Amino acid sequence: MENRQRWDNRMVFVFAAIGSAAGLGNAWRFPYMAASNGGGAFLIPYFIALITAGIPILILEFAIGHKFQAGAPTSLSKIKKCWESIGWWAVAVSFAIVTYYAVIMAWVFNYLWHSISLAWGDAPQNFFLNKVLEISEGPGVLGGFSIPVVIGLVIAWVAVYLTIRNGVKSVGKVVKWTVPLPIIMLGILVIRSLTLPGAVDGLNYYLNPDFSKLLEPTVWASAFGQIFFSLSVAFGVMIAYASYLPKKSDITNNAIITALANCGISFLAGFAVFGTMGYMAAEKGATVAEVAGTGGIGLAFWVYPEAISLLPFGSILFALVFYIMLLTLGIDSFFSLVEGVVAGISDKWSLNKKKTTIGVILVGFIISLLYATKGGLYWLDIVDRYINNWNIIGVALLQAIAIGWVFKSKKIREYINPISDVKLGRWFDVLVMGITPLVLAGILVWNIVQEVIDVINGNLYEGYPLWAIISGGWAVTVVLIIASIILGFTKSKNVVLEKAPKE
Ligand code: PFF
Repeated sequence: MENRQRWDNRMVFVFAAIGSAAGLGNAWRFPYMAASNGGGAFLIPYFIALITAGIPILILEFAIGHKFQAGAPTSLSKIKKCWESIGWWAVAVSFAIVTYYAVIMAWVFNYLWHSISLAWGDAPQNFFLNKVLEISEGPGVLGGFSIPVVIGLVIAWVAVYLTIRNGVKSVGKVVKWTVPLPIIMLGILVIRSLTLPGAVDGLNYYLNPDFSKLLEPTVWASAFGQIFFSLSVAFGVMIAYASYLPKKSDITNNAIITALANCGISFLAGFAVFGTMGYMAAEKGATVAEVAGTGGIGLAFWVYPEAISLLPFGSILFALVFYIMLLTLGIDSFFSLVEGVVAGISDKWSLNKKKTTIGVILVGFIISLLYATKGGLYWLDIVDRYINNWNIIGVALLQAIAIGWVFKSKKIREYINPISDVKLGRWFDVLVMGITPLVLAGILVWNIVQEVIDVINGNLYEGYPLWAIISGGWAVTVVLIIASIILGFTKSKNVVLEKAPKE
């Protein structure tokens, strides 16, 4: 472990962690989730999720990565061998996500290019679906590749390779740019949006509180799901990043800074998005609800582009600012996922990191081609849904039990406190051993019950056929879990080395 790479300094680590956390999810998931789940009132479950689960789990992940100096599987195996599989589940989930996150980055690269000519014209939805994606009629028809997406995909993977090929040294150089840049871009977009006529209506739509929503369990499940996805916890990524910290490093304060910066970026993004939606509504003589759509890829690839085209001046400039923001927000989340997978594999089998990186990127690229087909968008949507609702919550729950109960939260505190600025008291044990796992178990059960009800009622996600839900949702989950169990019980070179007599 002596020659493990190290971050250059604390700031680089915090930048990398914020870079991983602040991604596409902040820009297009949070604002809509808030708007449709109670507006300003949504901030209550969101904040509670942050305090009761997000920050505590982030602290736990930083702590075990730092203590065991390894990626998620090896770190968890040091708690107890049989828990290694949970680490692999996190890594497997990261790998599954990275294969479609890459495709979204490919779309962003395409749109950066199209910004120069505002190529989407006055039918941006048609442009995205039919010109860029050349979308097929359903998940049953893959229909060959969309060439622009494949080209974007190659660029995205090459960019990731160049960033992480020299491990945390090269990552450190990149995040110095890719973390501040999107924040500056976002600042520009917020100022622009708030100075547009009609912006206030948009903000009303975003933040007007509807407290009755707080009685719906789904709203709470959404808040927790969003916190995990957004903070990149339960993916093994933060464990891997913390494993490159030097011996004496703060844990708690770094986690708090990362979490608050991430949530601040999400909150700000809402102003840029909905201020602009208010303007678009005023321009078109429609309501904000009518123009805003439902978020997700629609926001980034047709709703927002249309709004930009309507600006009185500087449309090209603001299009460029928007897509550079998405690109720089997304790219460090993208390579953090790859880094988490690479650390998991290379730490277990003591493999050469550079070669492992190339291997992971090649396999990732090949799998991501599935989503670059004309039917790829449907599969992306299904896989994303089930990864978020089931897998991430499952990993977070088991990981909290492994660290809080098996390793013991008290031992973690005793490890963290001497090296950290902010000291943890016994309340932390109550959180990570009680509240966090209970809430997570509740959400998991709720999501599964909801799924059963939906299947019985024939009310399948987005109206996809059952066979597509079974293969893209349930089967992918089962495959990820089985692969994790097998990997967890495979012998590692490390174990052999540890048993070998010292020279
Ligand atoms: N946190 C990222 C976002 O909000 O877009 C997505 C993500 C990145 C999730 C890295 C998980 C991860 F490990």
